[in-house]
Amino acid sequence: MSRRRLLGSAGAAGATGLVLGAAGGATGYAATRTDEPTALTAVGSTQVMFHGKHQPGITTPLQARGHLVAFDLAPGAGRKEAAALMRRWSAVARRLMAGEAADSGAADGAAHDTGIALDAGPSSLTVTFGFGHTFFERTGLVGHRPPGLDPLPPFSSDHIDAKRSNGDLWVQIGADDALVAFHALRAVQKEAAPAAGVRWQMNGFNRSPGATAQPMTARNLMGQIDGTGNPKPAESDFDRRVFVPAGTDTKYDWLAGGSYAVVRRIRMLLDDWEKLPVERQEQVIGRRKKDGAPLSGGAETTAMDLDKAGPDGKLLIPDNAHARISSPEKNSGAAMLRRPFSYHDGISADGTPDAGLLFICWQADPLRGFVPVQRKLDRGDALSPFIRHEASGLFAVPGGAADGEYVGQRLLES
Ligand code: HEM
Repeated sequence: MSRRRLLGSAGAAGATGLVLGAAGGATGYAATRTDEPTALTAVGSTQVMFHGKHQPGITTPLQARGHLVAFDLAPGAGRKEAAALMRRWSAVARRLMAGEAADSGAADGAAHDTGIALDAGPSSLTVTFGFGHTFFERTGLVGHRPPGLDPLPPFSSDHIDAKRSNGDLWVQIGADDALVAFHALRAVQKEAAPAAGVRWQMNGFNRSPGATAQPMTARNLMGQIDGTGNPKPAESDFDRRVFVPAGTDTKYDWLAGGSYAVVRRIRMLLDDWEKLPVERQEQVIGRRKKDGAPLSGGAETTAMDLDKAGPDGKLLIPDNAHARISSPEKNSGAAMLRRPFSYHDGISADGTPDAGLLFICWQADPLRGFVPVQRKLDRGDALSPFIRHEASGLFAVPGGAADGEYVGQRLLES
């Protein structure tokens, strides 16, 4: 039963309540109320497809809410339990992304759904699944573990908490409504038992659709326009950069059409950052804060001119500017699709905000994406004094499930 259908019956019950209320004097309400369900707004009704060549949540536009959750398989759980779990998770993800109740298979319909997302449409919900390095030992599939999943090297500026890093399985949930996202999170957590338990969870957000006069590149919690330099799906090398091609080695066939996600919880030292005058902040990134235009001139989408100097002979985009150091031009073409969420977990014991970026980047090969770029940033990024990498994960994200298939089936039933 769809949530809209449920809304229909809930609406009817609600209307009855209002009629009774009206008799008690709440006449204003009853006058504006009809039993006809109102059409959802575009935000609520937008649906992302679960089945396809690639999993959802990679090229999907940034959503307003996100949950990242890593799970470890339970003691004694192996390949069989993992396969059953991926089957359950895929089924529930498909239903929820279509705006249906979590458990439509039960004889009593939606009775097993928590009801958290009642009244809302799919709201661009996506659920994306990945496998960590340790998953392959646990499931006896080490022979199918691709070299791209080798642990990330340590970086000198790392402050990594191992307990909030990696994990056997990773789930990324995104939606344009906080309740729809939480609903999916609860469903995914419940379906995990008894095969797997939560290892860590992080919650994030982005700007709400409709908050700006026209769609724009998002801003992060430092106030910068963030995402301008991303590869665009319309570019001819987009797929080559972001998705794993079908290779010659059949051991890794299961990953064709998939991608690697690098996840970093990057704390922003906002008290220090906010003390910098805007001109200094712009030098740190190499772009203007107001509109994201490169300091070499033009508008947000103008290409950076990395050689252009000012009248004083100094480079307009400084040598240590973040956007210069991370650009494909300076990294033998290394590129990634950055698709982050911001996070805010309150105030730390030292009184500073525990806030920053849940940095998620997608690439066909971490050794031609995140790793070389982060090595370079680690050595001389002007942004480094204002950020701290606190957690890290690397996950192989299988290609999308075909109709009737579950995510990871080609690996787990190989
Ligand atoms: C909290 C941490 C970070 C912040 C606040 C941040 C912010 C930014 C901003 C404002 C830009 C310029 C606009 C744009 O092109 O998107 C940018 C560009 C970029 N950043 Fe970051 N970034 C962070 C961490 C990282 C990390 C860890 C990496 C990868 C290792 C990275 C890779 C890139 C790349 C590849 C570009 C595009 C360069 C280009 O092609 O023009 N960033 N970042």
